[in-house]
Amino acid sequence: MPFRVLVTDDVDRDGVALLEAEPQLSVDEVPTLPKEELLERIGDYDAIVGRSATKISAELLRRAKRLRVVGRAGVGVDNVAMDVATELGIAVINAPAGNTIAVAELVFGVLISLIRHLPRAVESMRAGRWDRSSLLGTELLGKTIGIVGLGRIGSEVAARAHAFGMQVHAFDPYVADARFTTLRVHRAATLDALLDEADIVTVHTPLTDETTGLIGRRELARLRPGGIVANLARGGIVDDGALAAALESGHVKGAALDVYVAEPLAADSALRKLPNVILTPHIGASTAEAQRNVAVDACAAVRDALLSNELGRS
Ligand code: MLT
Repeated sequence: MPFRVLVTDDVDRDGVALLEAEPQLSVDEVPTLPKEELLERIGDYDAIVGRSATKISAELLRRAKRLRVVGRAGVGVDNVAMDVATELGIAVINAPAGNTIAVAELVFGVLISLIRHLPRAVESMRAGRWDRSSLLGTELLGKTIGIVGLGRIGSEVAARAHAFGMQVHAFDPYVADARFTTLRVHRAATLDALLDEADIVTVHTPLTDETTGLIGRRELARLRPGGIVANLARGGIVDDGALAAALESGHVKGAALDVYVAEPLAADSALRKLPNVILTPHIGASTAEAQRNVAVDACAAVRDALLSNELGRS
């Protein structure tokens, strides 16, 4: 009997084709399923491959009696109940590298949008106006970017920040000095030291107990007046309530958010009404290139895991 693989969340075709090409795998491709329907079906599958929209909860994993592997076409595994997967011996395989460039490029897209008031400029032109005088912006050149997390994405942000002539500082207690030197990044000894120095703070860490609320009320107050905050990593690393208050008081001049504690962001969320904020709907990894990369990486890894016999089969 072939191994059955459920593919969901619009995983790119090039990745799914790798699974379909294997005679020992039988693949069902479905759109993101409502929770109840997924719970009903999961018992039939040896593997599931998806993106962040499908929550691989403890309940789902316990229902999934045949499941041997979860493939995550993307980097974050915060949508997977990792402790339960470990307990049940279910392998979780992510694709950590494929969307790095997409996110790093978008960081500068949203920052420039923010400091050059692009949404307002576009809206004013559509409305038939010519608002040049009210659209005076600022430049990145000479400003200090403070990168929290100098992993894959943080490092690519650093490289691009250099190209814009920025001073590049970062805080990451898990990265060796040599890497800071190679990337020509000034090492901030503490998060507070980074906040003291930065005009723009951008977070690039996973969401963990340690990073939840990492940039909260105290940290935002520490930022110099007129600072800018960007979160294209995971909702909750920057405390939304504290950020809203800091924006309303004017202490923080602007923010760019691509990720939220609850996604999709509620239509009536207070965040949507904040001034000087660029909001995007978790599109950091949404480029054709990135989606192809992560789908191919995740699907190839799931295929190899299923066919290697290492996962066993009951
Ligand atoms: C990722 O974790 O790879 C990105 O945030 C994209 C996603 O969650 O789909």
